[in-house]
Amino acid sequence: MKLTQAHRDALLDILRWRRDVRHFLSDPIDEAVLERLRAAMELAPSVGNASPWRVLNVVSPDKRAAVIANFEAANAEAAKLYEGEKRAEYNALKLAGLRDAPVHLAIFTETDPDEGHGLGRQTMPEMLAYSTVAAIHTLWLAARAENLGMGWVSILDPEGIATIFDVPANWSLTGYFCLGKAASDDDTPLLHRNDWQENSPTEWREV
Ligand SMILES: Cc1cc2nc3c(=O)[nH]c(=O)nc-3n(C[C@H](O)[C@H](O)[C@H](O)COP(=O)(O)O)c2cc1C
Repeated sequence: MKLTQAHRDALLDILRWRRDVRHFLSDPIDEAVLERLRAAMELAPSVGNASPWRVLNVVSPDKRAAVIANFEAANAEAAKLYEGEKRAEYNALKLAGLRDAPVHLAIFTETDPDEGHGLGRQTMPEMLAYSTVAAIHTLWLAARAENLGMGWVSILDPEGIATIFDVPANWSLTGYFCLGKAASDDDTPLLHRNDWQENSPTEWREV
């Protein structure tokens, strides 16, 4: 398939307007849309073609409440790293949209899958988790193309999350995600808007 300038323009729009979203409308997401997002993840690259990501669509209110408690404890602990004005600035950031997002996804990496037969992960076993991240980014872009926003929540105690979901010992948490309609659109990261951190240029040089 030969791609055109129209494809490049569309891709650039999706890349530019994808944001880490933490302010959601609570409108539900159609099952058909969720199914398209699931299918999009299958298009992601992975080491040895192992597709080691394992996705839990968290619908249980009790489990969601337990995740929120886990986040709040981890976030309070993280705030202690800062002092004075910086701590106040940190506490003013909204770092998760867990209470409003209509869909929660807990995404794990299976650390020793049969799939792939070990190819490509002998010297760098972290390639399995990197593969999951590639699938997550694919999901992020596919969600944006559906006019949905996604937010990555990593301020969590991963062992606590594994316990909440009673996952097998060889599943390692890669991230927890909020998904839904964004309350507003932006082409600029929220941490930039909030004067916490602007985008940095990619270091790229010839050697
Ligand atoms: C691995 C990873 C973990 C992240 N964890 C969090 C998080 O816990 N809370 C949060 O608000 N944003 C989190 N983010 C989102 C980043 O803050 C965000 O990607 C960055 O500020 C750039 O904004 P943008 O995604 O809108 O371009 C995470 C992003 C990545 C890639």
